[in-house]
Amino acid sequence: MNDIVTELADGILRVELNRPDKKNAMTGPMYDRLAEILDEADQDDGVRVVLWHGAGDSFTAGNDIQDFLQNPPGEGGSSQGRLTDAFIRFTKPLVAAVHGVAVGGGTTMLTHCDIVYAADNARFQIPFVDLALVPEFGSSFSIPARVGYQRAAELFLLGERFTAQHAAELGLVTRVVPNAELLATARATAAKLAAKPAGALRASKRLLKAAWFAPVRDAVENEAQEFTARVRGEEAREAFSAFLEKRPPNFANAAMPFAAKAA
Ligand code: COA
Repeated sequence: MNDIVTELADGILRVELNRPDKKNAMTGPMYDRLAEILDEADQDDGVRVVLWHGAGDSFTAGNDIQDFLQNPPGEGGSSQGRLTDAFIRFTKPLVAAVHGVAVGGGTTMLTHCDIVYAADNARFQIPFVDLALVPEFGSSFSIPARVGYQRAAELFLLGERFTAQHAAELGLVTRVVPNAELLATARATAAKLAAKPAGALRASKRLLKAAWFAPVRDAVENEAQEFTARVRGEEAREAFSAFLEKRPPNFANAAMPFAAKAA
């Protein structure tokens, strides 16, 4: 089965994460494919807007934890890094429709979207600390910049679930809509955007994001160093194994991994 499905109609490229039995958890090849889709869409005059959503009952449960164990992102380029670069490069409108679970990257990747509709059943969470990891996709900069430091610290350090309504109050999503109307709402917005002058849209997006490029890139670089070390550490191995074995983690004997930048 194709883990990412695309369909182009009326200038709207619909991109569907399609691994519903695993809550659309993202594997390395899925990040690579998504990066390729965005890069191609940016070059293709037939694509005016990208509409991104998930199959089944959820948007995405973030990085596939089995894949973290088997193919941890490494120094000198990773699938996650390639997708981050593609998000940063992408100049056309990116509309996301989020329902069900949006965990880890499922929340942080949304910081690269222009308009995010959340279904009223959407549940967000940034549980990196509980997985013995750190923020990614530039979210260590972009989320505090959007929501303020203390609210960001609560999301990252406690890592608890939060509702669509709270995500909207924080400014992490554009609007909450009934789940039954989610895709239709996102499509209607994508259609409005597709009818606008494409050159002016792209130029406006570039201007809106101009001030963000440098700090997001810096954050991505710093995050990658720390992430690369921690994802290989004993704490992370325990967290991943516990998830896969469906048991609570025990960090009592897990050694601190080498930190790329000592505090
Ligand atoms: N990686 C790998 N597999 C995952 C996954 C992930 N991130 N998220 C869910 N799955 C798998 C589950 O292992 C399960 O597989 P199984 O049917 O073979 O046992 C299947 O998807 C369904 O998930 P399940 O946990 O049964 O659904 P749920 O509704 O009870 O809980 C979540 C959904 C998302 C809350 C829960 O699966 C979860 O916490 N996942 C981990 C999310 C996470 O930490 N992501 C961040 C990575 S950076």
